[in-house]
Amino acid sequence: MTNLQLLTFLYLLLFAAFLVNCHSQEKKVYVVYMGEKQNADITVASVQQNLHYPILERVLGSSVAAKESLVYSYGRSFNGFAAKLSDEEVARFSDMEGVVSVLPNTKLQLHTTRSWDFIGLPSDLYVPNSKGEDVIIGMIDSGIWPESHSFSDEGFGPPPAKWRGKCITENNFSCNNKIIGARYYNHEKYYIETDIKSPRDPTGHGTHTASIAAGREVRGASYFGHGKGIARGGAPNARIAVYKACWYYGCSIADILAAFDDAIADGVDVISVSFGVLGFEYTNDPVAIGSFHALRKGILTISSAGNFGPSRAVVSNCAPWLLTVGASTMDRKFITKLVLGNGQIFTGVGVNSIDLNGTQFPLIWGGDAANYSANSFSQTSKGCYPGELNSHKVKGKFVLCEQRSTGIGVLMADGAGIIMPVQTFDEPAFPFSFPATLLTEEEIAKVLGYIRSSEKPVATILVAEAWKDNLAPIVAPFSARGPNMLAPDVLKPDLVAPGAEILAAWSPVASPSIEPTDTRTTNFFINSGTSMSCPHVTGVAANLKTINPTWSPAAIKSALMTTSYMMDPKKARKRKRICLRVWSTQPVNCSEPRTSL
Ligand SMILES: *[C@@H]1O[C@H](CO)[C@@H](O)[C@H](O)[C@H]1NC(C)=O
Ligand SMILES: *[C@@H]1O[C@H](CO)[C@@H](O)[C@H](O)[C@H]1NC(C)=O
Ligand SMILES: *[C@@H]1O[C@H](CO)[C@@H](O)[C@H](O)[C@H]1NC(C)=O
Ligand SMILES: *[C@@H]1O[C@H](CO)[C@@H](O)[C@H](O)[C@H]1NC(C)=O
Repeated sequence: MTNLQLLTFLYLLLFAAFLVNCHSQEKKVYVVYMGEKQNADITVASVQQNLHYPILERVLGSSVAAKESLVYSYGRSFNGFAAKLSDEEVARFSDMEGVVSVLPNTKLQLHTTRSWDFIGLPSDLYVPNSKGEDVIIGMIDSGIWPESHSFSDEGFGPPPAKWRGKCITENNFSCNNKIIGARYYNHEKYYIETDIKSPRDPTGHGTHTASIAAGREVRGASYFGHGKGIARGGAPNARIAVYKACWYYGCSIADILAAFDDAIADGVDVISVSFGVLGFEYTNDPVAIGSFHALRKGILTISSAGNFGPSRAVVSNCAPWLLTVGASTMDRKFITKLVLGNGQIFTGVGVNSIDLNGTQFPLIWGGDAANYSANSFSQTSKGCYPGELNSHKVKGKFVLCEQRSTGIGVLMADGAGIIMPVQTFDEPAFPFSFPATLLTEEEIAKVLGYIRSSEKPVATILVAEAWKDNLAPIVAPFSARGPNMLAPDVLKPDLVAPGAEILAAWSPVASPSIEPTDTRTTNFFINSGTSMSCPHVTGVAANLKTINPTWSPAAIKSALMTTSYMMDPKKARKRKRICLRVWSTQPVNCSEPRTSL
């Protein structure tokens, strides 16, 4: 796809979203949640449907209307249904006895910082036997790439007897004794070109999270040579059950609840979800509802805290029965150096995988390359957004930009590389499709000073290096912080785990950079987000379940939370004065001496 095609495609997508909205103004999909399932014996979906038709009929007036309206009938693990309803019908269901809540079918986002969060675009754009083979991890995500070496079933026996799930083998998808079950959910039947109608993962996200939780050892794994080593999940001997509820457009509530309904009844031991909503009451939050019924069956749900940090009070998945995971940095940090023509070297944040062999490229500031005929001028073109740059001036050059982006503006104008600002050096590095590095604003100003003071400014960008980060772990800047706005006395997140620059399995058809049109192929990818920290804890929880099969979700959660320890005692001793940043409307000055703490 060319860049223009991509833009056209995005417009079409927006337009399609608009059409869907228009069309559904009369009737939209709602989830009518009715709490505990009524009849313990009902495990067959069709029987449950017969229970829901009469309820729908009462409100909609006819059995034909009821049949047309029903989207999902939940009943394997909890009671409720999804149906197309008008505002008036919603009001009637809301007042009905036995109905806990009626949830509009909004879409949740995966908690990866890849691309959209990174570039600041709104994301709504769219372990018995001692080996753990009896523990089943349910992954509700964007599917899985079953052929990845991380999911090899070599040496695995058949699924444990308790397993009641199934494998949807549509479109060339197959399970094995590692991936023992796979289903997908898309009630809208809305698929874009790159979506695959099967549990297969075209995006890489579900493959990445599943391999972090339960991937087997893969030797020589790397991202184009970077981070080379043995890739291994937290519980390499656990089985994986895949519930694909997330698509290009996000994960809709009706689909998420269908996934939970199945996962619980199928007999998984832990559930992992790397998405969430912010600020929904528990009775309106699909993860809170699903995980509650999971808990009632002794299944712990591990969830991601979200990536809206470093702001406060932005943590998702706040229900007390969830194990909510924030993200920390690791001692490995990828850096990408920029070398100027005058010999100055800047160490930037980046995972540049393109070897320029030291070749120097002319360097230009975006503000000096405005496309005047596109009504751009220096003050706007310095941001390097698409359409702002004059390709005659930018072609074959490195461009210094003063705004963060995917770099598409520079790519469209045939630039050879990009230098962009980053708020702090602590932020995670993202792979780009072309040479790129991110510098702090002071460094950007220095590079600009060089451009201004030299007749022929040139520079080169080196391939990424892995550095030992002695400050790690710290809470990653993007990781959502508490307090919990719904119930401030329930502390959230519960734990942090590594979530920055994590190397794990990837779908070969997915883009290997934040540029969606990047056609290179990789089986491993470096990704950041609480999406990545969550499955780390899932893996550990699965191991605990293996060793202690009788432990309740609360026992597992408690064990994990009460055995965490300070990773760097030296650092703890040095920091004598603790500055507690309490949540308040008054800014806290941490330089001010405090004696009360
Ligand atoms: C099915 O998947 C396998 C493994 O990726 C591949 O080798 C084969 O070509 C695929 N077949 C079709 C019809 O897509
Ligand atoms: C750098 O050198 C490698 C190995 O010689 C080569 O494959 C690559 O194309 C070169 N890169 C550039 C940008 O010339
Ligand atoms: C400047 O912008 C116009 C209008 O978008 C575009 O047609 C033209 O190709 C651009 N010129 C250059 C040199 O990039
Ligand atoms: C914070 O307190 C220190 C010491 O009292 C003072 O020097 C500094 O100006 C204060 N900073 C702000 C932003 O108020």
